[in-house]
Amino acid sequence: MTELPAPGDHPKAGHRRTPGARRARCVAVGTALPERRLTNADLAKLVDTSDEWIVTRTGIRERRMADPGTALSDLAVVAARECLDRAGIQADQLDGIICATITGDHVMPATANIIQHRIGARRAWGYDLLNACNGFLAALNTAAAFVEAGRAERILVVGGDLMSSLVDFRDRNTCVLFGDGCGAVLVEAGPGDGYGLIGFEMHSDGGSAADLIVPCSGSALPATADALARGEQFLKQNGKAVFQQAVRRMAEVSTSLLDGLGLTSADIDLLVPHQANLRIIQPTAERLGVPMEKVVVNIDRVANTTAGTIPLALADAEASGRLHQGTRVLLVAFGGGLTWGAAYLTWGR
Ligand code: UT7
Repeated sequence: MTELPAPGDHPKAGHRRTPGARRARCVAVGTALPERRLTNADLAKLVDTSDEWIVTRTGIRERRMADPGTALSDLAVVAARECLDRAGIQADQLDGIICATITGDHVMPATANIIQHRIGARRAWGYDLLNACNGFLAALNTAAAFVEAGRAERILVVGGDLMSSLVDFRDRNTCVLFGDGCGAVLVEAGPGDGYGLIGFEMHSDGGSAADLIVPCSGSALPATADALARGEQFLKQNGKAVFQQAVRRMAEVSTSLLDGLGLTSADIDLLVPHQANLRIIQPTAERLGVPMEKVVVNIDRVANTTAGTIPLALADAEASGRLHQGTRVLLVAFGGGLTWGAAYLTWGR
């Protein structure tokens, strides 16, 4: 495990208040979830587990599962259209689409290109960004950088995964944790003193890559018959190691970001954490001094959708009236890489 620099030495390269004339605003969110629900009781018919174990260890009660034949772009197109409708924007007003996912339609072409075509975003470029559970935050920060630099006016940031395509439904250690779902957020240029993305911080520790990995998914281990027979195409996780790091890093990066911006937990109206385990979310909030009333939790209904968790949680918060124009939001995520990050923003335009 690589150690981060001590707090005093930290370069804080990711901290920033947008200094220029432009700020990247998050103006709307759209989502798509498969209809089919897979309950803990359903899983107990597949593996040696129980509703009681899953609820007490993770907080998950059910997750959504896409029907066979569904691709990520099928959900992404629905989420994208909903997002654009809510923002009052036509698809041909988009300059770019960034799709954060580890379960795109194919390794090639990038799913963002398929979304671009299907929604009729004629002027938009598109590419995928792969950073596991921290993928949505990474894509959001990338989009914001384009917008702040004046290289784009509007970028659609899609985050979603069909984890059912990566999970071994014979492995109780992993199959109970994940679900399918997708969301999209429109990032748009606005005035430098208006609402929008105020700061972010990101970290990586590739030294712990093996703790959360899909071994047979690229050049390191091509999909030979032997590798597939061993089940190397499925996600593997060292649950305890990841758990410990997630609790530590999510609180640490949030505190560091707030400190760097000269803010405190009193400046958070809504904490939107990655939804991997309720037992990770609760201590993160506690360490930050944020009461659970200000924390968005939907893991009970949708489980861990990897790059989809943050946009799905944002949409949940909006639907329940907790996210609106001017809400001060802290986003924080942790996942395979290992990688973790946080972003602070005021919602809306
Ligand atoms: O989003 C990406 C980041 N991912 C995460 O943040 C996930 C982090 N990890 C976790 O959330 C937790 O470590 C898990 C939920 C994966 C596991 O919880 P845990 O409290 O760390 O349990 P454990 O791995 O220590 O397992 C405890 C016991 C084991 O049995 P023994 O060895 O003590 O006899 C497991 O075999 O629970 C057993 N177990 C299960 N039992 C019933 C593991 N999975 C299950 C299951 N049902 N589904």
